[in-house]
Amino acid sequence: MNLRIPSFEVYKSEYQKSVDNPEAFWSEIAQTFEWKKPWTNALSWNFNEPNVKWFEGGSMNITENMLDRHLEERGDQVAFYWEPNEPGDVAKTLTYKELHREVCKLANGLKSLGIEKGDRVCIYMPMTLEGIISVIACARIGAVHSIVFAGFSSNALADRINDAKAKLVITSDGLNRGTKQLDLKAMVDEALKQCDSVEHVLVHKHTHNDTNYTEGRDVDYQSLVDSMDDNCPAEAMDSEDMLFILYTSGSTGKPKGVVHTCGGYMIYTAYSFQNVFQYEQGDVFWCTADIGWITGHSYIVYGPLLSGATSVVFEGIPTYPDCGRFWAVCDKYKVNQFYTAPTAIRALMGAGLEFVTPFKLDSLKVIGSVGEPINDEAWQWYHREIGKDNCPVVDTWWQTETGGIMISGLGSHSPMNPTHAGYPLPGIQPVLLDQDGNEITENEVEGYLCVKYPWPSILRTTYGDHERCKNVYFSNYEGYYFTGDGAKRDKDGMYRIIGRVDDVINVSGHRFGTAEIEDAINTNQHVVESAVVGYPHDIKGQGIYAYVVVDSNEADTAIELSVCDSVSDGIGRIAKPDKIQVVTGLPKTRSGKIMRRILRKIAEGERANFGDTSTLLDPTVVESILEKAK
Ligand code: PRX
Repeated sequence: MNLRIPSFEVYKSEYQKSVDNPEAFWSEIAQTFEWKKPWTNALSWNFNEPNVKWFEGGSMNITENMLDRHLEERGDQVAFYWEPNEPGDVAKTLTYKELHREVCKLANGLKSLGIEKGDRVCIYMPMTLEGIISVIACARIGAVHSIVFAGFSSNALADRINDAKAKLVITSDGLNRGTKQLDLKAMVDEALKQCDSVEHVLVHKHTHNDTNYTEGRDVDYQSLVDSMDDNCPAEAMDSEDMLFILYTSGSTGKPKGVVHTCGGYMIYTAYSFQNVFQYEQGDVFWCTADIGWITGHSYIVYGPLLSGATSVVFEGIPTYPDCGRFWAVCDKYKVNQFYTAPTAIRALMGAGLEFVTPFKLDSLKVIGSVGEPINDEAWQWYHREIGKDNCPVVDTWWQTETGGIMISGLGSHSPMNPTHAGYPLPGIQPVLLDQDGNEITENEVEGYLCVKYPWPSILRTTYGDHERCKNVYFSNYEGYYFTGDGAKRDKDGMYRIIGRVDDVINVSGHRFGTAEIEDAINTNQHVVESAVVGYPHDIKGQGIYAYVVVDSNEADTAIELSVCDSVSDGIGRIAKPDKIQVVTGLPKTRSGKIMRRILRKIAEGERANFGDTSTLLDPTVVESILEKAK
């Protein structure tokens, strides 16, 4: 179905419609999908509990809308082109018909392992087609998937498995990332020493390295799938049944499991995909994210397949075998819409134009950015060198919790302003609030970015802890969903995201809580206490600066290595601090609170003017930190 808005004029009228009568607006769109049973109530909500229900009483299965409904018209159309890490290795394709078959076989396989509707399945996979098939197979039978990015450590994996009480883990023997290989199965084995809920581990052979098999627990993916029937009727799901859990970091505590449900998520991912990228039938779309992040969920798996799109899936990294890889892949598959993160753009920009000029890039129509604010220089380079001054840049602002893109241009329809995400999509009602929680209605202002009305793919809860969902997102400003971001609105009403206003840092588009990194550092035997802050980083957007107090006489360099290991073990290599400073003490107030403001300023390069430090217990601590500041 075509959900595309054809012009900016129509966008404006659709936006108005969506605000005047959101239920009617979304119902009209929802009707273009296949439902097993119609809904009885389009929306019921309050942001106080919070409790949001879209299309209550309706029954459907998202995979029928992603696969079955396309078979007649485009069964032989390619759903995915899979590009391997190694350019010389064999690339693969899957048509809609083939994908449907593979999903059904695996779905039957999952059932044979005792997986039922509502059971949680953890997916810890590289960027393979089998990873995607696993996701869809879960949805087919109503199992709730929880994908864990394959860069997280076994401890982080264990935390997520335990929180979700997953019954099954789907993994592979290994993963290729540039020149590196990782033994994923060994990581799972290690994690499972801490987990009781897992009954089976399904192992896909990808790198074909030797792995240990645990009799009775481990099952070979291919042998299982080969023995299964390719007919698997889709489970009837209530619109508000859980579709998946995805863990994400916040200011405090361990990462929380953001819960998305079937009906609303289906409608919003398809609608936002088609509109932001202005995807037309026959186009080739490429989102470079990993399925372990929300971008991969919504714009590799769900949005594109719901729209009958053809997409590229890439196993590797932008810099292997060299910094021209993205552009080579764009030319190879004649990619029309390309979607990546500012950190990749900055890294490739830094590598020089010799990696861009060999490529034509003439198939591109829309180029997108996601995950962090894009700075002006990177925006201009992307627009000029990749888009050839000819493609709109869609700077898409959204979050794990929002399920889909919230603020962004719609292809070439919307006016563009570099570094500005732009206008909200239809159905999205953002507001800026001041310190006291009052809505700021004028333009040319800055405030806390909140949303005042539910949209179909808003998170419903945090798994197993609804109170936490309420506290984190709905309690700061009563009656609003609070994003955790600060934003500006310019004279034309366009939004520009400034960044997080809480203790979350965004490193290369990956989100970490400072407390979470501190917890990992504090497991180090030498560390007495630590404080972590973010600082501006040329490539990563933000870098991680860790201040550590130790009770050891070892050289600072040895401590630094050991602290890095603790973070790699606790979270994963992706969260390793960029700078570690051994300090004799942290700046604390008399009541024992760490004054992070000062630590942030030092990390940002400030060497004086720390404001009022009179409440510090020991002001000399600051001087001693400054002496060795990095
Ligand atoms: O701070 C915002 C930033 O990323 C956060 C959400 O992170 P996550 O849930 O991991 O999802 C990332 C991919 C959707 C936001 O709170 N962010 C995301 N997109 C942008 C952005 N900041 C500025 N501009 C964006 N386009």
